[in-house]
Amino acid sequence: MVHIDTAIAGIQLSNPMMLASGILDENGYTMLEILKKGAAAVVTKSIGTSERTGYKPPVVVPIQGGLLNAVGLANPGIDNFRDEMKIALSGNRPVFGSIFGATADEFLQLGLKMEEYGATAVELNLSCPHVAGYGTEVGSDPVLVEDIVNTLKSNLKIPVFAKLSPNVTDIVEIAKAAQKADALVLINTVRAMSIDIHARKAVLTNRYGGLSGQAIKNVGVRYVYEVSKETGKEIIGVGGIENAEDLIEYIMAGASAVQIGTALYTQGKDVFSRIAAGLVEFMESEGFNRISEMIGVAVE
Ligand SMILES: Cc1cc2nc3c(=O)[nH]c(=O)nc-3n(C[C@H](O)[C@H](O)[C@H](O)COP(=O)(O)O)c2cc1C
Repeated sequence: MVHIDTAIAGIQLSNPMMLASGILDENGYTMLEILKKGAAAVVTKSIGTSERTGYKPPVVVPIQGGLLNAVGLANPGIDNFRDEMKIALSGNRPVFGSIFGATADEFLQLGLKMEEYGATAVELNLSCPHVAGYGTEVGSDPVLVEDIVNTLKSNLKIPVFAKLSPNVTDIVEIAKAAQKADALVLINTVRAMSIDIHARKAVLTNRYGGLSGQAIKNVGVRYVYEVSKETGKEIIGVGGIENAEDLIEYIMAGASAVQIGTALYTQGKDVFSRIAAGLVEFMESEGFNRISEMIGVAVE
């Protein structure tokens, strides 16, 4: 008998898949729908201290192998997010509140609100690649990363996840700076751009954006492997997962669970049930009984 349940930071998950931040998760009802479609948990859109409208369209464009986006951290602001959390939590599955800020104090205020709203854990977005002053600008400074993670760990009761960026020179240095986090989330999108050759200009209004989807899967697998090997920390893998084989690669590279974003656009919302079926089939044919038997088996 095959069991596909797993755990991250002591939180039980009925299967290893959760919804990634930024995709269908600014609204409580769409998060509920994703849970009904088979995700074991959802991560919310990254929420900041106040409402932001983000960049002018186009903010998401399909390109070969995935999506290019520069949404600009558009979000309703933390005070307007209480009701969405309540609705998402009515699904009786874990809801992870993603937050972004420019300083440790901003992250702390947001983290305390998410805890008050009932979030199962907070996910710190230290990695958005396209907004000045936030995300990677914060997440590529190991001193600031350590300060933010340690401040939240000392003041919150719920687990703290740190979502790191691939757009840094030395991921292990940043991962070590975040070592007090209960789990690391790897990776956010890869900085990229696309040119409209007829218009003779960048496709995105922000010019640069973040690449997600199939094209970044092997980048993500490598980051998970390297950070797992060098730090031994619990990891949630994310980037380009579309099928059971992709998920299993991440698990064998050291992830205990994964997140799925772009595949919801490219494969539809049934992606969770399809991957779960493929996972069971693989485990049966390869003689694995539990996910824990596969975590990190490729790491040497
Ligand atoms: C349209 C869009 C919006 C996103 N917004 C966020 C966000 O608000 N916070 C965040 O941490 N990651 C955000 N991401 C990144 C995803 O959570 C994920 O790390 C990345 O897309 C790689 O996974 P995927 O290939 O399965 O999409 C966004 C991605 C996309 C495509």
